[in-house]
Amino acid sequence: MTANPAALTIREPDDWHLHLRDDAMLALAADITARQFARAIVMPNLLPPVTTVAAAEAYRDRILAALPQGRRFTPLMTAYLTDEIDPDEIETGFEKDVFTACKLYPAGATTNSASGVTDVARIYRVLERMEKIGMPLLVHGEVVSPDIDIFDREAVFLETVLTPVLRDFPALKVVLEHITTADSVQFVQDAGPTLAATITAHHLRIDRNALFEGGLRPHAYCLPVAKRRRHRTALRQAAISGNPKFFLGTDSAPHLKHDKESACGCAGIFSAPVALESYTLTFDEEGALDRLEAFASEFGPRFYGLPLNEGTITLHRESQTVPEIVTQGDLAVVPFHAGETLGWRAAERG
Ligand code: DOR
Ligand code: ZN
Repeated sequence: MTANPAALTIREPDDWHLHLRDDAMLALAADITARQFARAIVMPNLLPPVTTVAAAEAYRDRILAALPQGRRFTPLMTAYLTDEIDPDEIETGFEKDVFTACKLYPAGATTNSASGVTDVARIYRVLERMEKIGMPLLVHGEVVSPDIDIFDREAVFLETVLTPVLRDFPALKVVLEHITTADSVQFVQDAGPTLAATITAHHLRIDRNALFEGGLRPHAYCLPVAKRRRHRTALRQAAISGNPKFFLGTDSAPHLKHDKESACGCAGIFSAPVALESYTLTFDEEGALDRLEAFASEFGPRFYGLPLNEGTITLHRESQTVPEIVTQGDLAVVPFHAGETLGWRAAERG
């Protein structure tokens, strides 16, 4: 590859961590992702959460119905783990190809996590079953104790929750979602082949200063919260390293503009409109465009044991100005990179 290619064509990518929401927000969000990604792991943190096969099937139907005619897109559904979740329901959903994975939200960790798991010991019987049937566990890796500094919650999770789970379930496939620290990079590198991690576009670009740049910046607020610059550097190194344990997962999480710009603003960054461009920008800055395709389109499906996509998508080195706001009907959402001019533009998938 030349140093500054005018265009880059890669195998169609997938998004291994995505929030599509429901109802009117789903109508806004679904096709924005499907323009760039062939498949996505869809988070189950709706209200009420997706805990049954029937709920996941119905949600999958609503996602497909929200897409324009002819759009090829496969939503990969997840089950929301609760203290009471039934292992038989999980296994049935996996065997029927409805559930691709289960999501562990520690109760209270983030948006719509109130019904999450209060103590991982309570779901050991489910983890045992998942290990047996080869179903991946996706983890929001933060402890929730108010006594733990918010910037340390991910690191403490590695020690107090993830280490025992990996020890007790050595064959369980685990994805540590949206990692934000050098500690997590190191932990994933050192662990066996059953552990992988996703990295968001935004954690590759912002550090915690972005939250306070000239004033309080609610649109830079997400969970896990962005950390110091040195952590961002470690994430960038991991993303471009060519290590198949690190792959793309946007955690694109739309919230209404007025819910973010509030006295108690919601956590989440809506990166979907320019997700691929944002990753490309980072890989370009790092001189690693030749490693984008593996990170975006190969390592994820390989870890999940799914086929690679057949189609391609082209990124053009062209400037585009990201809109200040994305609207649909009455809804208004501020996207990641709002108002910025980016040097890349992704062509729409066919
Ligand atoms: O920033 C976040 N937003 N982090 C999460 O873990 C959840 C997500 C959401 O659903 O809004
Ligand atoms: Zn998420």
